[in-house]
Amino acid sequence: MKIKKVTKAVFPVAGMGTRFLPATKSIPKEIMTLVDRPLIQYAIDEARAAGIKEFIFVTSRGKSALEDYFDHSPELESALRKAGKDQLLEVLKDTNMDSGAIAYVRQNRAMGLGHAVWCARRLIGNEPFAVLLPDDVIAAEKPCLQQMVEAYEQTGGNMVAAMEVPPHMASAYGVLDVAEDMGSILQVKGMVEKPKADEAPSNLAVIGRYILTPKIMTNLNKMKQGAGGEIQLTDAIAEEAATPGKVFGFRFRGQRYDCGSKAGFLQATVAFGLSRPDLRDEFGSYLQDLMALQRAAQ
Ligand code: G1P
Repeated sequence: MKIKKVTKAVFPVAGMGTRFLPATKSIPKEIMTLVDRPLIQYAIDEARAAGIKEFIFVTSRGKSALEDYFDHSPELESALRKAGKDQLLEVLKDTNMDSGAIAYVRQNRAMGLGHAVWCARRLIGNEPFAVLLPDDVIAAEKPCLQQMVEAYEQTGGNMVAAMEVPPHMASAYGVLDVAEDMGSILQVKGMVEKPKADEAPSNLAVIGRYILTPKIMTNLNKMKQGAGGEIQLTDAIAEEAATPGKVFGFRFRGQRYDCGSKAGFLQATVAFGLSRPDLRDEFGSYLQDLMALQRAAQ
């Protein structure tokens, strides 16, 4: 069987980001920065590295800053050119998208992640596609989606990123029911969105990277309400899992940060700050001093 290449990706970015109020009153959560790059830039870079050519954003009201971010900025660019700031011009290049490479569709009612993905159905058509949740930032030597695309080229079907979580955390995630553990790839026979603590089928949580078949869009057409009364992407994938060979989990190599939570965002900020050659020394010695002070105060 010839497996179709994955060239389209959906970025659900319609959420209100209430956990980050008041900041998100006037800026989209996805524009909040880790060091000097907005969250969305990390997701886009990861998708590009995995061979994605078409980027579909599912947005909502108040997200125009996102559209501007990926557009050219003629005044800024000419000012930088005049000032001879070539390095900054180079940095800006990552934010530019070719005309036609990026599309925006609106989710006009907040009805859940499954519904958000479904909003992109016409742009996806009859092709496999990736979904990236920008809240999940994954630091990895080989970008997570690229690892998944390589695994998917062996398996076909649907593939979700998976990570072990402590049992008491499972109810915050979609959780896999595993039929066969083959190491980095897992054969999945079921999935449950936000199970009760004692009902989780495993401690393998779904992390926000997916490679999906167009059949998932058909399943979402049913608009079946799931956990929290929302239309859940997990349920549409779980429908496929009843047939062996249709759904796989993928244990990625990398460190995931939950940038949808304040603590996770702060952890990512520290980790990315320390990984930057231009900041490592100054920021690292500040943290060391801070820890020494705290120890002394104890
Ligand atoms: C979403 C998905 C969930 C997944 C999680 C990963 O939940 O519905 O299955 O485990 O992302 O971050 P959310 O975090 O949007 O509640």
